[in-house]
Amino acid sequence: EKGGYPSFMEKEINDQPAAVGDTLLGRADANGRLMLDEVRIDPELLKSVDKIIVLACGTSAYAGQVAKYAIEHWCRIPTEVELSHEFRYRDPIVDGNTLVVSISQSGETMDTLMAVRYAREQGAKTVAICNTNGSTIPRESDAVLYTHAGPEIAVASTKAFLAQITAAYLLGLYLAQLRGLKFQGEIRDILSDLGAIPKKIQAILDNADQIKKLAREMADTKSVLFLGRHVGFPVAMEGALKLKELAYIHAEGFAAGELKHGPIALIEEGQPVFVVVPSPRGRHSLHSKVVSNIQEIRARGAKTIVIAEEGDEAVRAYAEHVFYIPETPTLLAPLLATVPLQMFACELATAKGYDVDQPRNLAKSVTVE
Ligand code: F6R
Repeated sequence: EKGGYPSFMEKEINDQPAAVGDTLLGRADANGRLMLDEVRIDPELLKSVDKIIVLACGTSAYAGQVAKYAIEHWCRIPTEVELSHEFRYRDPIVDGNTLVVSISQSGETMDTLMAVRYAREQGAKTVAICNTNGSTIPRESDAVLYTHAGPEIAVASTKAFLAQITAAYLLGLYLAQLRGLKFQGEIRDILSDLGAIPKKIQAILDNADQIKKLAREMADTKSVLFLGRHVGFPVAMEGALKLKELAYIHAEGFAAGELKHGPIALIEEGQPVFVVVPSPRGRHSLHSKVVSNIQEIRARGAKTIVIAEEGDEAVRAYAEHVFYIPETPTLLAPLLATVPLQMFACELATAKGYDVDQPRNLAKSVTVE
Protein backbone atom coordinates (compact mmCIF):
# COMPACT_ATOMS: atom_id res chain seq x y z
CA GLU A 1 0.00 0.00 0.00
CA LYS A 2 3.07 2.22 -0.20
CA GLY A 3 2.35 2.48 -3.92
CA GLY A 4 5.81 1.26 -4.86
CA TYR A 5 7.61 3.81 -2.68
CA PRO A 6 10.09 2.70 -0.02
CA SER A 7 8.19 4.53 2.72
CA PHE A 8 4.79 6.06 3.41
CA MET A 9 6.58 9.36 3.80
CA GLU A 10 7.84 9.28 0.23
CA LYS A 11 4.49 8.15 -1.01
CA GLU A 12 2.74 10.95 0.83
CA ILE A 13 5.19 13.58 -0.42
CA ASN A 14 4.41 12.30 -3.90
CA ASP A 15 0.66 12.30 -3.20
CA GLN A 16 0.70 16.06 -2.79
CA PRO A 17 -0.54 17.08 -6.23
CA ALA A 18 -3.64 14.97 -5.56
CA ALA A 19 -3.94 16.17 -1.95
CA VAL A 20 -4.19 19.79 -3.11
CA GLY A 21 -6.26 18.96 -6.21
CA ASP A 22 -8.79 16.90 -4.26
CA THR A 23 -9.10 19.54 -1.57
CA LEU A 24 -10.06 22.07 -4.25
CA LEU A 25 -12.46 19.74 -6.01
CA GLY A 26 -16.12 20.70 -6.22
CA ARG A 27 -15.80 23.79 -4.08
CA ALA A 28 -16.67 26.46 -6.65
CA ASP A 29 -19.00 26.82 -9.62
CA ALA A 30 -17.85 27.69 -13.13
CA ASN A 31 -17.86 31.40 -12.30
CA GLY A 32 -15.54 30.89 -9.37
CA ARG A 33 -18.32 31.30 -6.83
CA LEU A 34 -17.35 29.32 -3.76
CA MET A 35 -19.98 26.98 -2.40
CA LEU A 36 -18.70 25.78 0.93
CA ASP A 37 -21.95 24.13 1.91
CA GLU A 38 -20.20 22.23 4.68
CA VAL A 39 -19.57 25.48 6.48
CA ARG A 40 -23.05 25.42 7.92
CA ILE A 41 -22.69 28.63 9.87
CA ASP A 42 -25.29 31.28 9.15
CA PRO A 43 -23.73 33.55 6.49
CA GLU A 44 -25.05 36.57 8.36
CA LEU A 45 -23.10 35.45 11.40
CA LEU A 46 -19.98 34.96 9.34
CA LYS A 47 -20.35 38.48 8.01
CA SER A 48 -20.24 39.86 11.53
CA VAL A 49 -17.02 38.09 12.49
CA ASP A 50 -14.55 40.70 13.71
CA LYS A 51 -11.69 38.42 14.71
CA ILE A 52 -10.36 35.06 13.64
CA ILE A 53 -8.29 32.84 15.90
CA VAL A 54 -6.57 29.86 14.33
CA LEU A 55 -5.74 27.08 16.80
CA ALA A 56 -3.43 24.17 16.04
CA CYS A 57 -0.19 22.43 17.01
CA GLY A 58 3.00 21.59 15.18
CA THR A 59 2.88 21.47 11.42
CA SER A 60 -0.83 22.30 11.45
CA ALA A 61 -0.01 25.53 13.29
CA TYR A 62 2.45 26.44 10.53
CA ALA A 63 -0.37 25.95 8.03
CA GLY A 64 -2.33 28.41 10.15
CA GLN A 65 0.54 30.89 10.11
CA VAL A 66 0.64 30.74 6.33
CA ALA A 67 -3.13 31.19 6.15
CA LYS A 68 -3.02 34.29 8.35
CA TYR A 69 -1.24 36.26 5.62
CA ALA A 70 -3.87 35.33 3.06
CA ILE A 71 -6.94 35.73 5.27
CA GLU A 72 -5.95 39.15 6.54
CA HIS A 73 -5.07 40.28 3.03
CA TRP A 74 -8.28 39.02 1.45
CA CYS A 75 -10.79 39.54 4.27
CA ARG A 76 -9.33 42.38 6.34
CA ILE A 77 -10.28 40.49 9.50
CA PRO A 78 -7.63 40.53 12.24
CA THR A 79 -6.36 36.96 12.47
CA GLU A 80 -4.31 35.44 15.26
CA VAL A 81 -2.67 32.07 15.14
CA GLU A 82 -2.02 30.42 18.44
CA LEU A 83 -0.71 27.09 19.59
CA SER A 84 -3.68 25.33 21.16
CA HIS A 85 -1.81 24.51 24.37
CA GLU A 86 -0.86 28.16 24.90
CA PHE A 87 -4.33 29.45 24.09
CA ARG A 88 -5.93 27.14 26.62
CA TYR A 89 -3.99 28.36 29.57
CA ARG A 90 -4.12 32.10 29.17
CA ASP A 91 -7.19 34.27 29.38
CA PRO A 92 -7.96 34.72 25.69
CA ILE A 93 -10.48 37.27 24.49
CA VAL A 94 -13.14 35.35 22.62
CA ASP A 95 -16.78 36.24 22.06
CA GLY A 96 -19.72 35.68 19.75
CA ASN A 97 -18.05 37.65 16.95
CA THR A 98 -14.91 35.53 17.05
CA LEU A 99 -14.47 32.79 14.49
CA VAL A 100 -12.20 30.05 15.75
CA VAL A 101 -10.62 27.94 13.03
CA SER A 102 -8.96 24.79 14.29
CA ILE A 103 -6.55 22.93 12.04
CA SER A 104 -5.86 19.28 12.76
CA GLN A 105 -4.93 16.41 10.49
CA SER A 106 -6.06 13.75 12.95
CA GLY A 107 -8.95 15.64 14.49
CA GLU A 108 -7.95 14.06 17.79
CA THR A 109 -5.18 16.30 19.14
CA MET A 110 -6.14 16.77 22.77
CA ASP A 111 -4.83 20.32 23.17
CA THR A 112 -6.64 21.51 20.07
CA LEU A 113 -9.84 19.77 21.11
CA MET A 114 -9.72 21.38 24.55
CA ALA A 115 -8.99 24.79 23.03
CA VAL A 116 -11.98 24.44 20.68
CA ARG A 117 -14.21 23.43 23.59
CA TYR A 118 -13.09 26.44 25.57
CA ALA A 119 -13.72 28.78 22.62
CA ARG A 120 -17.22 27.40 22.14
CA GLU A 121 -18.01 27.87 25.78
CA GLN A 122 -17.08 31.52 25.34
CA GLY A 123 -19.59 31.79 22.50
CA ALA A 124 -17.23 31.64 19.53
CA LYS A 125 -18.25 29.95 16.30
CA THR A 126 -15.86 27.15 15.41
CA VAL A 127 -14.81 25.73 12.06
CA ALA A 128 -12.57 22.67 11.94
CA ILE A 129 -10.15 22.13 9.08
CA CYS A 130 -9.54 18.42 9.37
CA ASN A 131 -8.34 15.43 7.38
CA THR A 132 -10.11 12.68 9.30
CA ASN A 133 -13.79 12.04 8.70
CA GLY A 134 -15.90 11.83 11.80
CA SER A 135 -13.07 12.54 14.21
CA THR A 136 -13.66 14.33 17.50
CA ILE A 137 -12.68 17.94 16.71
CA PRO A 138 -15.05 18.26 13.71
CA ARG A 139 -17.81 16.56 15.68
CA GLU A 140 -17.45 19.16 18.41
CA SER A 141 -17.25 22.12 16.03
CA ASP A 142 -20.02 24.17 14.41
CA ALA A 143 -18.71 23.35 10.96
CA VAL A 144 -16.00 21.39 9.21
CA LEU A 145 -14.03 21.88 6.07
CA TYR A 146 -12.41 18.58 5.22
CA THR A 147 -9.01 18.42 3.61
CA HIS A 148 -9.04 15.60 1.11
CA ALA A 149 -5.42 14.54 1.46
CA GLY A 150 -6.37 10.92 2.05
CA PRO A 151 -5.11 8.96 5.05
CA GLU A 152 -1.71 10.16 6.26
CA ILE A 153 0.21 7.20 7.66
CA ALA A 154 3.74 8.53 8.16
CA VAL A 155 3.97 10.18 11.55
CA ALA A 156 5.45 13.42 10.25
CA SER A 157 2.92 15.45 8.33
CA THR A 158 3.47 16.32 4.66
CA LYS A 159 0.48 16.12 2.36
CA ALA A 160 -1.93 17.12 5.13
CA PHE A 161 0.05 20.37 5.49
CA LEU A 162 -0.43 21.40 1.88
CA ALA A 163 -4.08 20.37 2.02
CA GLN A 164 -4.58 22.43 5.20
CA ILE A 165 -3.16 25.55 3.57
CA THR A 166 -5.42 24.94 0.57
CA ALA A 167 -8.53 24.51 2.73
CA ALA A 168 -7.71 27.55 4.87
CA TYR A 169 -7.35 29.59 1.67
CA LEU A 170 -10.75 28.39 0.48
CA LEU A 171 -12.23 29.48 3.79
CA GLY A 172 -10.53 32.88 3.51
CA LEU A 173 -11.83 33.39 -0.02
CA TYR A 174 -15.30 32.29 1.07
CA LEU A 175 -15.33 34.86 3.86
CA ALA A 176 -14.14 37.52 1.41
CA GLN A 177 -16.91 36.51 -0.98
CA LEU A 178 -19.57 36.69 1.75
CA ARG A 179 -18.40 40.05 2.88
CA GLY A 180 -18.32 41.31 -0.70
CA LEU A 181 -14.73 42.40 -0.34
CA LYS A 182 -13.41 40.79 -3.46
CA PHE A 183 -14.86 41.03 -6.88
CA GLN A 184 -15.96 37.61 -7.94
CA GLY A 185 -13.48 37.78 -10.84
CA GLU A 186 -10.60 38.14 -8.45
CA ILE A 187 -11.69 35.11 -6.46
CA ARG A 188 -12.04 33.18 -9.70
CA ASP A 189 -8.47 34.16 -10.66
CA ILE A 190 -7.06 33.07 -7.30
CA LEU A 191 -8.94 29.77 -7.58
CA SER A 192 -7.49 29.28 -11.01
CA ASP A 193 -3.98 29.96 -9.66
CA LEU A 194 -4.70 27.40 -6.93
CA GLY A 195 -5.93 24.98 -9.59
CA ALA A 196 -2.54 25.23 -11.30
CA ILE A 197 -0.66 24.25 -8.12
CA PRO A 198 -0.90 20.42 -8.42
CA LYS A 199 0.94 20.43 -11.76
CA LYS A 200 3.60 22.71 -10.36
CA ILE A 201 4.11 20.44 -7.34
CA GLN A 202 4.43 17.57 -9.78
CA ALA A 203 7.15 19.44 -11.65
CA ILE A 204 9.10 19.81 -8.39
CA LEU A 205 8.64 16.11 -7.59
CA ASP A 206 9.82 15.18 -11.07
CA ASN A 207 13.03 17.12 -10.42
CA ALA A 208 13.87 15.60 -7.06
CA ASP A 209 17.34 14.32 -7.95
CA GLN A 210 19.29 17.47 -7.23
CA ILE A 211 17.87 18.03 -3.72
CA LYS A 212 18.10 14.34 -2.85
CA LYS A 213 21.74 14.29 -3.86
CA LEU A 214 22.46 17.29 -1.66
CA ALA A 215 20.60 15.61 1.24
CA ARG A 216 22.78 12.50 0.97
CA GLU A 217 25.93 14.63 0.84
CA MET A 218 24.82 16.42 4.00
CA ALA A 219 24.02 13.31 6.03
CA ASP A 220 26.67 14.16 8.64
CA THR A 221 25.52 17.72 9.20
CA LYS A 222 25.03 18.68 12.85
CA SER A 223 22.85 21.74 12.46
CA VAL A 224 20.84 23.42 9.71
CA LEU A 225 19.20 26.84 9.80
CA PHE A 226 16.21 27.93 7.74
CA LEU A 227 15.34 31.52 6.89
CA GLY A 228 12.17 32.84 5.36
CA ARG A 229 10.12 35.97 5.27
CA HIS A 230 6.39 36.72 4.95
CA VAL A 231 4.72 33.41 4.02
CA GLY A 232 8.21 31.96 3.66
CA PHE A 233 8.72 32.29 7.42
CA PRO A 234 6.34 29.47 8.43
CA VAL A 235 7.75 27.47 5.50
CA ALA A 236 11.22 27.85 7.05
CA MET A 237 9.82 26.71 10.42
CA GLU A 238 8.23 23.69 8.78
CA GLY A 239 11.47 22.83 6.94
CA ALA A 240 13.29 22.89 10.27
CA LEU A 241 10.65 20.80 12.01
CA LYS A 242 10.77 18.11 9.31
CA LEU A 243 14.54 17.86 9.69
CA LYS A 244 14.34 17.58 13.49
CA GLU A 245 11.63 14.96 13.36
CA LEU A 246 12.96 12.76 10.59
CA ALA A 247 16.73 13.15 10.74
CA TYR A 248 17.20 14.11 14.43
CA ILE A 249 19.33 17.04 13.35
CA HIS A 250 19.30 20.30 15.21
CA ALA A 251 17.43 22.72 13.01
CA GLU A 252 15.88 26.12 13.52
CA GLY A 253 13.72 28.36 11.41
CA PHE A 254 13.94 32.13 11.61
CA ALA A 255 12.24 35.13 10.12
CA ALA A 256 14.92 36.53 7.84
CA GLY A 257 14.32 40.01 9.25
CA GLU A 258 15.36 38.74 12.68
CA LEU A 259 18.87 37.79 11.55
CA LYS A 260 20.53 40.95 12.81
CA HIS A 261 18.61 40.72 16.07
CA GLY A 262 20.47 37.62 17.14
CA PRO A 263 20.59 34.54 14.93
CA ILE A 264 23.37 35.90 12.71
CA ALA A 265 25.70 35.20 15.64
CA LEU A 266 25.23 31.51 14.86
CA ILE A 267 26.74 31.82 11.41
CA GLU A 268 30.23 30.42 11.11
CA GLU A 269 32.27 28.81 8.39
CA GLY A 270 30.34 25.99 6.72
CA GLN A 271 27.02 26.46 8.59
CA PRO A 272 24.30 25.27 6.19
CA VAL A 273 21.42 27.74 5.83
CA PHE A 274 18.34 27.20 3.70
CA VAL A 275 16.82 30.44 2.50
CA VAL A 276 13.28 30.56 1.15
CA VAL A 277 13.38 33.54 -1.21
CA PRO A 278 10.20 35.48 -2.08
CA SER A 279 9.31 36.02 -5.70
CA PRO A 280 11.07 38.99 -7.33
CA ARG A 281 7.64 39.87 -8.75
CA GLY A 282 6.10 40.21 -5.30
CA ARG A 283 5.15 43.47 -3.61
CA HIS A 284 7.11 45.19 -0.84
CA SER A 285 10.56 44.50 -2.36
CA LEU A 286 11.04 41.63 0.06
CA HIS A 287 13.03 39.82 -2.58
CA SER A 288 15.94 42.23 -2.48
CA LYS A 289 15.90 42.25 1.32
CA VAL A 290 16.20 38.49 1.48
CA VAL A 291 18.92 38.53 -1.19
CA SER A 292 20.84 40.95 1.08
CA ASN A 293 20.38 38.48 3.94
CA ILE A 294 21.91 35.75 1.79
CA GLN A 295 24.87 38.02 1.03
CA GLU A 296 25.32 38.79 4.73
CA ILE A 297 25.42 35.18 5.84
CA ARG A 298 27.50 34.11 2.86
CA ALA A 299 30.10 36.73 3.77
CA ARG A 300 30.32 35.07 7.19
CA GLY A 301 30.98 31.65 5.74
CA ALA A 302 27.48 30.14 5.58
CA LYS A 303 26.78 27.42 3.06
CA THR A 304 23.70 28.92 1.42
CA ILE A 305 21.01 26.71 -0.03
CA VAL A 306 18.36 28.73 -1.76
CA ILE A 307 14.78 27.98 -2.77
CA ALA A 308 13.83 30.58 -5.37
CA GLU A 309 11.37 31.16 -8.17
CA GLU A 310 12.28 30.02 -11.66
CA GLY A 311 13.98 32.82 -13.53
CA ASP A 312 15.35 34.46 -10.38
CA GLU A 313 18.96 34.84 -11.46
CA ALA A 314 19.81 37.39 -8.77
CA VAL A 315 20.23 34.68 -6.14
CA ARG A 316 22.76 32.65 -8.07
CA ALA A 317 25.78 34.77 -7.23
CA TYR A 318 25.37 34.15 -3.49
CA ALA A 319 24.05 30.62 -3.38
CA GLU A 320 26.00 27.43 -3.17
CA HIS A 321 22.89 25.59 -4.33
CA VAL A 322 19.70 26.92 -5.88
CA PHE A 323 16.49 24.95 -6.15
CA TYR A 324 13.95 26.54 -8.41
CA ILE A 325 10.21 26.31 -7.95
CA PRO A 326 7.66 27.31 -10.62
CA GLU A 327 6.24 30.85 -10.70
CA THR A 328 3.15 31.43 -8.63
CA PRO A 329 1.57 34.36 -6.75
CA THR A 330 3.38 35.04 -3.48
CA LEU A 331 0.57 33.86 -1.22
CA LEU A 332 0.50 30.47 -2.93
CA ALA A 333 4.27 29.93 -2.91
CA PRO A 334 4.30 27.89 0.36
CA LEU A 335 2.43 25.14 -1.50
CA LEU A 336 5.54 24.79 -3.66
CA ALA A 337 8.47 25.94 -1.52
CA THR A 338 7.71 23.40 1.22
CA VAL A 339 8.11 20.43 -1.10
CA PRO A 340 11.92 20.53 -1.61
CA LEU A 341 12.35 20.92 2.16
CA GLN A 342 10.25 17.81 2.82
CA MET A 343 12.22 15.85 0.22
CA PHE A 344 15.48 17.05 1.75
CA ALA A 345 14.56 15.88 5.26
CA CYS A 346 13.16 12.58 4.05
CA GLU A 347 16.18 11.75 1.92
CA LEU A 348 18.70 12.80 4.54
CA ALA A 349 16.98 10.69 7.22
CA THR A 350 16.84 7.74 4.83
CA ALA A 351 20.56 8.15 4.10
CA LYS A 352 21.19 7.96 7.85
CA GLY A 353 19.24 4.72 7.96
CA TYR A 354 16.33 6.06 10.01
CA ASP A 355 12.74 4.93 9.79
CA VAL A 356 11.11 7.99 8.26
CA ASP A 357 7.60 6.68 8.84
CA GLN A 358 8.03 6.15 12.58
CA PRO A 359 10.50 8.68 13.97
CA ARG A 360 11.60 8.00 17.52
CA ASN A 361 9.54 9.39 20.40
CA LEU A 362 6.69 10.62 18.20
CA ALA A 363 3.07 9.51 17.86
CA LYS A 364 0.77 10.23 14.95
CA SER A 365 -1.95 11.72 17.05
CA VAL A 366 -1.24 13.29 20.35
CA THR A 367 -4.29 12.48 22.41
CA VAL A 368 -2.73 13.36 25.73
CA GLU A 369 -1.56 16.76 26.94
C1 F6R B 1 4.72 17.27 12.36
C2 F6R B 1 3.52 16.67 12.91
C3 F6R B 1 2.93 17.25 14.15
C4 F6R B 1 1.43 17.48 13.95
C5 F6R B 1 0.80 17.95 15.26
C6 F6R B 1 -0.68 18.27 15.09
O1 F6R B 1 5.20 16.56 11.27
O2 F6R B 1 3.01 15.72 12.37
O3 F6R B 1 3.57 18.45 14.49
O4 F6R B 1 1.25 18.41 12.92
O5 F6R B 1 0.96 16.97 16.24
O6 F6R B 1 -1.41 17.14 14.72
P1 F6R B 1 -2.85 17.26 14.13
O7 F6R B 1 -2.77 18.01 12.86
O8 F6R B 1 -3.32 15.85 13.93
O9 F6R B 1 -3.67 17.99 15.15
